[in-house]
Amino acid sequence: MIPTEKIPSPTMPTCETPKLLSGQKAVVTGANSGIGRAAAISLAEAGADVVVNYVAGEDTAAEVIREIEARGQRGMAYRADVSSETEVAAMFGATTEEFGTVDILVNNAGIQKDSPFDEMTLDQWEAVIGVNLTGQFLGAREAVRVFKKRGVVPEVSCSAGKIVAMSSVHDSIPWAGHVNYAASKGGVMLMYKSIAQELAPYRIRVNSIAPGAVRTPINTDAWETQEAYDKLMKLIPYTRIGEPRDIGQAVVWLSSDQSDYLVGTTLYVDGGMMLYPGFATGG
Ligand code: BGC
Repeated sequence: MIPTEKIPSPTMPTCETPKLLSGQKAVVTGANSGIGRAAAISLAEAGADVVVNYVAGEDTAAEVIREIEARGQRGMAYRADVSSETEVAAMFGATTEEFGTVDILVNNAGIQKDSPFDEMTLDQWEAVIGVNLTGQFLGAREAVRVFKKRGVVPEVSCSAGKIVAMSSVHDSIPWAGHVNYAASKGGVMLMYKSIAQELAPYRIRVNSIAPGAVRTPINTDAWETQEAYDKLMKLIPYTRIGEPRDIGQAVVWLSSDQSDYLVGTTLYVDGGMMLYPGFATGG
């Protein structure tokens, strides 16, 4: 018989397990709605302080800040057009001044301006390439400058910095009527893989997430009515639309040391959209 006084007390230890991203500072572009908002909130839940970038909608950015603070983290709303070199540089300046450094960049801001190809205006083309591709270049460049200058801080993370690029299944799936958007995301994919290859030796990790159809304001046409939703389900083997939080969780994991050996990878978070669902019954 084991003497009862030798049995360790079942009381739980009082120390708190550090959160996955404790002490880390993140910038999320386009963070006042949709996927960016969910990413900002998920990062805060995981212990990061977050800069909530937005270009329009100060009130919605303020709401996201409240969500971040409710999770015990610091938030800073910052208005900047990601396609403007000077505004992006100023945002990183303000971030390092306020938070001391940047450990994570989520390059999320993105727009769609759809049109039949032969009616697409140069403005529609340039606006989408400007935000979705040039915007990601400008943000990544500023972040990498900070990461290289600082290097690895082992108490904070195994790597010198992480960039998570928000891409799309349309970095691979052609998309009629959305040529500017598909071109921007195809560009994002090879831009990130090239940056990842160049910067991995500096212990900077660059990866991207390619969401499928997610319930956000960018694609209300695809899910708002029952008819549209049913049609959408033909493209999604898992037969549900993605929720912003599905992507937020992936952002946290890709930003954390749990994914430390992921370099230049694209994570498709799409309910199986990439699996050619049309072939489930055809071919
Ligand atoms: C687009 C959405 C679309 C989804 C799947 C995303 O990248 O922004 O509008 O529903 O791809 O087609």
